[in-house]
Amino acid sequence: MVTATKIWLSSPHMGSNEQAYVQEAFDSNWVAPLGPNVNLFEKALEDYVQEDVHVAALSSGTAAIHLALELLGVTSGDLVLCQSFTFSASANPILYLGAQPVFIDSEEKTWNMSPELLEKAILDCSAKGKKPKAIVAVHLYGMPYMADEITAIGKKYNIPIIEDSAEALGSKYKGKNCSSLGDLGILSFNGNKIITTSGGGALVSKNLEHKQRAVFLATQARDNAPHYQHSVVGYNYRMSNVLAGIGRGQMEVLEERVKARRANHEFYKQHLEHISGITFLAEPEGFFSNRWLSCILLPDYETREKIRLALLEDDIESRPLWKPMHMQPVFEANLSYTNGVSENLFERGLCLPSGSNLVEEDLKRILALILKTI
Ligand SMILES: Cc1ncc(COP(=O)(O)O)c(C=O)c1O
Repeated sequence: MVTATKIWLSSPHMGSNEQAYVQEAFDSNWVAPLGPNVNLFEKALEDYVQEDVHVAALSSGTAAIHLALELLGVTSGDLVLCQSFTFSASANPILYLGAQPVFIDSEEKTWNMSPELLEKAILDCSAKGKKPKAIVAVHLYGMPYMADEITAIGKKYNIPIIEDSAEALGSKYKGKNCSSLGDLGILSFNGNKIITTSGGGALVSKNLEHKQRAVFLATQARDNAPHYQHSVVGYNYRMSNVLAGIGRGQMEVLEERVKARRANHEFYKQHLEHISGITFLAEPEGFFSNRWLSCILLPDYETREKIRLALLEDDIESRPLWKPMHMQPVFEANLSYTNGVSENLFERGLCLPSGSNLVEEDLKRILALILKTI
């Protein structure tokens, strides 16, 4: 029987100024997919990410991946190497372009793309006369991928990297912000992310022409003419000025949100790490995770499910780790390079409630249930 209020896995957490910036859009009648909030949100992101990046605010992270692939010239029949242990939005846009994903399993240090398997896949595909066109690497749950190794492989074989930082705004690798490490980076401001615009995303690049081209494609690819003239296919992918107002307010509290999510993770770790059978993903030297979601590994599937269902019974949302893409029916026919790591994580892993708006009482309620169940 449910006795207390619902605890969500990761719910939106507004600061104090979001509504005022949305109100500005109404007051000035900039209720459009362009306008001052969009420019100021992009500027706030550029200042935060640093490394001289240019940011294009878009309607979703998925749209950003789609445009990134298009900017890199991915087209029908191409192969794109994609991390298998991720959310399906990392891979779906590859299919939008008629290209084929080739899935790469994870390593155990960060749970992200295995450099070893990545290189093997490049060599294999190239030997068959089909050199991959791009790499989609993901900082899953906020933990940066092994960027030195993955970047070196991209350079060695001259294959550009799309850095899927949808879950990793606020994470850093060797002091550099995630989304500035790849040839192109993408961010998501979906409702469950560390900051949200209810729905939204961004493309991040050090190359101003990338931003300009992305904005052009995202606004229906209108040629420079007084009438409507189109030479290429465009999209309706620009972020609205109303939602960018929420984004401006959220940027002001981003650092607090990172601290709160890391504190959740510390709480779980402190109280559960000593229990035999429960393990956490450690933060390797030089890696800084925003701990978007706090994850634990249990000894087996049965224990994982016992805990998940006990939490659910008390109206507490938790979720198994991502089901790898190479196990998904929709990608059944696609090539994959696997080592068992992501399948094992999927079987034993559980994401615990991780919102920055959780209070101590919530965390204690979750903890008590886990301890009782295990
Ligand atoms: C790893 C990853 N990539 C891409 C996306 C897509 O972002 P959006 O929901 O903004 O389209 C998400 C989240 O939803 C994600 O978790």
